[in-house]
Amino acid sequence: MAKKKKDALRSQAWFGKADKDGFLHRSWMKNQGIPADEFDGRPVIGICNTFSELTPCNAHLRDLAERVKRGVYEAGGMPLEFPVMSLGESNLRPTAMLFRNLASMDAEESIRANPMDGVVLLVGCDKTTPALLMGAASCDLPSLVVSGGPMLSGRVRGKEVGSGTDVFRYSEAVKAGEMSLADFMDAEAGMSRSPGHCMTMGTASTMASMAEALGMAMPHNAAIPAVDSRRNVLAQNAGRRIVEMVREDVRVSQILTRQAFENAVRINGAIGGSTNAVVHLIAIARRLGVDFGLDDWDHLGRDIPTIVDLMPSGRFLMEDFYYAGGLPAVIKAIGDFINKDALTVNGRTIWENCAAAPNYNNDVIRGLDNALTENGGIAVLRGNLAPNGAVLKPSAATPELMQHRGRAVVFEDIDHYKTRIIDPDLDVDESCVLVLKNCGPKGYPGMAEVGNMGLPPKILEKGIKDMVRVSDARMSGTAYGTVVLHTAPEAAAGGPLALVEDGDMITLDVAGRGLHLDVSEEELARRREAWSPPEPPMTGGYQKLYFDHVLQADEGVDLDFLVGGRGAAVPRESH
Ligand code: FES
Repeated sequence: MAKKKKDALRSQAWFGKADKDGFLHRSWMKNQGIPADEFDGRPVIGICNTFSELTPCNAHLRDLAERVKRGVYEAGGMPLEFPVMSLGESNLRPTAMLFRNLASMDAEESIRANPMDGVVLLVGCDKTTPALLMGAASCDLPSLVVSGGPMLSGRVRGKEVGSGTDVFRYSEAVKAGEMSLADFMDAEAGMSRSPGHCMTMGTASTMASMAEALGMAMPHNAAIPAVDSRRNVLAQNAGRRIVEMVREDVRVSQILTRQAFENAVRINGAIGGSTNAVVHLIAIARRLGVDFGLDDWDHLGRDIPTIVDLMPSGRFLMEDFYYAGGLPAVIKAIGDFINKDALTVNGRTIWENCAAAPNYNNDVIRGLDNALTENGGIAVLRGNLAPNGAVLKPSAATPELMQHRGRAVVFEDIDHYKTRIIDPDLDVDESCVLVLKNCGPKGYPGMAEVGNMGLPPKILEKGIKDMVRVSDARMSGTAYGTVVLHTAPEAAAGGPLALVEDGDMITLDVAGRGLHLDVSEEELARRREAWSPPEPPMTGGYQKLYFDHVLQADEGVDLDFLVGGRGAAVPRESH
């Protein structure tokens, strides 16, 4: 590829001028001890860091940034690390998703406003990956994702345990009287015993895999454990490569094509990835104007077998996945399903990266003839209860429940659910359909991960572990169950979900992709007359902005004014 001329570098609009403005830009930078020759026209690489001690999954990213810097220096670039808003899934309330778009704005504006020619996105915990990809996509500079990597496998009392997945299991076991509270508390430290993000195939691992599948990260980005020295090597190589990407002028839009998104959907099916990838990838694609939406998830993913046996759909953890061959081995196994010519950040196609990838463990990464689930992927359901769609992850659901008709037991919001679900007099049995309203983008606000609501204690005591559940919420990527999510429009936006009442019959038909409320149009019209929209959660500030502008799940839950790209033209001088 043609090399970019030094005077064409964007950063030279700051550092390349022999005048008052150039003096101002260079002089203040020199207070960090940067030698004069570093401003000579070499590529300036931003390292966009989501480090935060409040985001434990990303708390090691300052060390990783140093490795990226080594690589940038080696390749003749100048690295400059900068912080953006971090989003820690385990601490942020009411939910990290409320702030994904805010973090994307932070990333976008920080990239555009500053002197950089390319950017490395340091991410880890769930929302940090899509947030930075969305922001970088809207700028369209050369960009490369480096994920922080998963934690080592959890170990509790001699057994391997998975982030999130086993919390849900343990919590249900305590409620069912099968586990003591002391044992429950004791499991905390064993579950999270090293730096890194959740080590199940939850949302963080899914999105790290999606970054690799999309071609935005180097091979093996998804699975190398955070503390494995090879993660440092990957970061250093990423630092070297981003400098070359600037010289070759390889931008996000050349990598994130329709072909890349098709690959990502198929690879998500093969790994049994999180339903959260649905909204994130739609949001990223819409930043680039790529024609990609909810129905692509269904028809592109429908025939893909899930071949990776990881929790929550299966048995193993990310550490096992890396030792088995990681994502390249998966891509090789499903080679017939992917667009082999899709470009990746290392300058090679996805197939050139993966065609010779070995598989060291056929229990963890199975063959297509021995799949975990024949039809992995994400099922997109439609019907009068979800006119704009809803999703379900078949590989995490109970096969017998995927065709089901049951009586609705309705919770108006999460607080109503919490008080009502433990009521011993609640009229519910295992054939019922639990319906949770007002947990969508506007309703919660932020579309919280509460869709896999716990079952009533009296059902758990019978040893029953799953029921059909329907909501406008999301579900943690580490969770499981026959759970219908992302129902659109949501209840708080006046979707039909708002009109469901106790005793209504609901039909779930996953094979037919249907979700139906057996109530007449006349009755629904009568109920709609009595419905009134909710007030914004706050009368000012970001939450008001969010409430007024957030899009529904089928549109990626972005803010309407953030859709699309705005480029990285150099803003006017500040002095
Ligand atoms: Fe951060 Fe799961 S809590 S990845």
